[in-house]
Amino acid sequence: MFPKTLCSLWALSSCHLIIGAQGHKTDNDLWLPPASTEPSIKNPYVTSGPTYNVSSHQAIRIQSTTGVNSHWVGQWITTTENLHFVLISFSDVIPGGPGNSTDGGSANGCLVYSLDSGSFSSSFVSGTPTAVGQDRLKIQFGEQYELHSLTDDNISEISVIANFNGSNFSLNTTFQPRGSLLFNGGSGSFYWGSVFNHGWASPASYTTGTFTINGTTHIVDPKRSTTWYDRQWGEENPMQGWHWLPIQLENGIRISTWVLPTEQGALKAFATALYPNGEQEVVSVNPDIKPSDVWVSPNTNRTWYGSFEVSFLDEYNSVIMAISPDVTSRKFGEASFGSAFAFCDSFTLYNGTWKGESVRGWGIVEQWPAA
Ligand SMILES: *[C@@H]1O[C@H](CO)[C@@H](O)[C@H](O)[C@H]1NC(C)=O
Ligand SMILES: *[C@@H]1O[C@H](CO)[C@@H](O)[C@H](O)[C@H]1NC(C)=O
Ligand SMILES: *[C@@H]1O[C@H](CO)[C@@H](O)[C@H](O)[C@H]1NC(C)=O
Ligand SMILES: *[C@@H]1O[C@H](CO)[C@@H](O)[C@H](O)[C@H]1NC(C)=O
Ligand SMILES: *[C@@H]1O[C@H](CO)[C@@H](O)[C@H](O)[C@H]1NC(C)=O
Ligand SMILES: *[C@@H]1O[C@H](CO)[C@@H](O)[C@H](O)[C@H]1NC(C)=O
Ligand SMILES: *[C@@H]1O[C@H](CO)[C@@H](O)[C@H](O)[C@H]1NC(C)=O
Ligand SMILES: *[C@@H]1O[C@H](CO)[C@@H](O)[C@H](O)[C@H]1NC(C)=O
Ligand SMILES: *[C@@H]1O[C@H](CO)[C@@H](O)[C@H](O)[C@H]1NC(C)=O
Repeated sequence: MFPKTLCSLWALSSCHLIIGAQGHKTDNDLWLPPASTEPSIKNPYVTSGPTYNVSSHQAIRIQSTTGVNSHWVGQWITTTENLHFVLISFSDVIPGGPGNSTDGGSANGCLVYSLDSGSFSSSFVSGTPTAVGQDRLKIQFGEQYELHSLTDDNISEISVIANFNGSNFSLNTTFQPRGSLLFNGGSGSFYWGSVFNHGWASPASYTTGTFTINGTTHIVDPKRSTTWYDRQWGEENPMQGWHWLPIQLENGIRISTWVLPTEQGALKAFATALYPNGEQEVVSVNPDIKPSDVWVSPNTNRTWYGSFEVSFLDEYNSVIMAISPDVTSRKFGEASFGSAFAFCDSFTLYNGTWKGESVRGWGIVEQWPAA
């Protein structure tokens, strides 16, 4: 254990580093809550846009053991004590048990990162859901993880209750999607490795709740916290892996960027931007995202990268850098169960130019290696 004073000095210098990367921000407004107060289900693009019905697809079951049926909840939290955390909880419900009769291929897990201390914890647990809702969205893995809708539309208010005792982490948060949803590719259907799949997000959800890590309970400050909820399902998972960059800019623009090698050998790289006025725009991306700042996981001996440069093939030559501060020394973001499988969702700061304007923001970079 570090003496307390040394700890807080280190925390101060880490805050300084983060402020340095962002320019002249104070550490109290690292990230911003949703600007809109409109429930997403009332948004015109959600109700009358060229998209599927998000409510009725929330608890859909897929047939393929090699598919994806994912609820990913990324939360950028400022606590009432002015501490900063990135909390990710996720589940995937697919068939795959004996005779395909159960959900034996399913999994759930969490990633917890403290910006102030640099500490990181994660769990990735295979298992079978103990309950899947019939009337409302509800996915439960015993006492460990539960995602459920508090409203009949399956979307206006969703709660995550988790207790990952292996990580000494428990969570009880609720998020409310605000403003338009982001539909990847504009319609929420896109080519994902080998087949079309479906993916939409609430990239700006109002967030409340509490969580406990390593014995300390923290209270979410909703005015300085936000959730990106990502929902995706389809009958196949890409065998060649992917990079996914959910970019949240301070000017309110949200950009979901995919770089996907396809099974046919081609590379698909595109970004879907959601503007605060609800407009959605799909932009091609240079698939060479220039990874740098290499680091090797002490847990799995896998190689990950801490920085990327995303060049958008738009008329402005927009470029956004992804930089995970101190990741080469702190080594945060990996979730695995042994060396056979791992992925990496590292907290990331973004900066660059978008449509001729200088921008900065926050998010993660997801690195998902080939199977
Ligand atoms: C979505 O489907 C539900 C029934 O499952 C229906 O009540 C609702 O009106 C539909 N929403 C839209 C926007 O069509
Ligand atoms: C919510 O999800 C359930 C499945 O759990 C489904 O039966 C119901 O129709 C959905 N509600 C709406 C409004 O679509
Ligand atoms: C499980 O389902 C997959 C995909 O539908 C199929 O290829 C496989 O043969 C099934 N396995 C069993 C044991 O039924
Ligand atoms: C929790 O405690 C464990 C064991 O001391 C440590 O390795 C980990 O970094 C801590 N996690 C967080 C998020 O503080
Ligand atoms: C976590 O709890 C489960 C039962 O709920 C138990 O089987 C497991 O051993 C516990 N793990 C740890 C690390 O305490
Ligand atoms: C989660 O928080 C809600 C709202 O504060 C509370 O009603 C509920 O009892 C909590 N659930 C658990 C399992 O702690
Ligand atoms: C959780 O963390 C606290 C504080 O570090 C510690 O006292 C407790 O023993 C830990 N519990 C487990 C199950 O690791
Ligand atoms: C780690 O991986 C490298 C190759 O990437 C290999 O040379 C090295 O032996 C591995 N180390 C361990 C401890 O497995
Ligand atoms: C992003 O910020 C870094 C400094 O942290 C700077 O070196 C880089 O040029 C900036 N990138 C862009 C595209 O503006």
